[in-house]
Amino acid sequence: MTDGATELGLGIDIGGTGMKAAIVNLGTGELASDRFRIDTPHPATPTTIAEVVRALIDHHHWTRPFGAALPAVVRQGSVTSAANIDDSWINVSSDELFSNSTGLDVCTVNDADAAGLAEMRFGAGRDRHGVVILLTLGTGIGSALFIDGKLVPNTEFGHLELDGQDAELRAAARARQRDDLSWKQWAKRVRYYLEHLEKLFSPDLFIVGGGVSRKYENWLPHVKISTEIVPAAMANNAGIVGAALVAPTG
Ligand code: BGC
Repeated sequence: MTDGATELGLGIDIGGTGMKAAIVNLGTGELASDRFRIDTPHPATPTTIAEVVRALIDHHHWTRPFGAALPAVVRQGSVTSAANIDDSWINVSSDELFSNSTGLDVCTVNDADAAGLAEMRFGAGRDRHGVVILLTLGTGIGSALFIDGKLVPNTEFGHLELDGQDAELRAAARARQRDDLSWKQWAKRVRYYLEHLEKLFSPDLFIVGGGVSRKYENWLPHVKISTEIVPAAMANNAGIVGAALVAPTG
């Protein structure tokens, strides 16, 4: 839809508890509609999720291609991992699934990659070169790696092994609640995890996103590492905006 100079897109962010969709101004990264949310159905199988995707599209009366972000590895439009989603997703063509349920062209990507694309274009990573790593600290840990602004997709750094465990089990936001940690105690785990990433990638910048990025004053001051680290700027909307950015054109 071209409305004067305003190019609009639609993005859907599919999470473990909620599925959110909005129309996005692709020139500014701002939302151009309400952010409509429907609870993620349980079980969250391809069939039940595809129905909600259609409901979200219907809500916005959207009739053009759109993008969707999933908490899984998405390679060439197909899901190939299921750490935090139903196992029945493995080898499902998410592009085809959502295209069939909506009748529209779709591009699906990993949720952290979507958030990273949005932060690099409009948020904390804007105009940043070199090696940038965005991490979303939520139920799990999502990651997006950029080299001079170009995404290396599906890095899944949340599943690096840390002290014999999946890193996300130790350092995701959920671990703080589960293990009843103070912000400072949890920040220590985050610092340890980031130091591991520093050794592997020598990044120029870390961007930390997810719900906890809005409360960064509570914990970020305790994460003292040598690499520059900044909170994500787009918080809750990054996944939606990034999904809208990858929507097929034409
Ligand atoms: C998944 C990733 C996802 C991250 C955040 C991890 O458990 O493996 O694909 O990006 O959670 O949702």
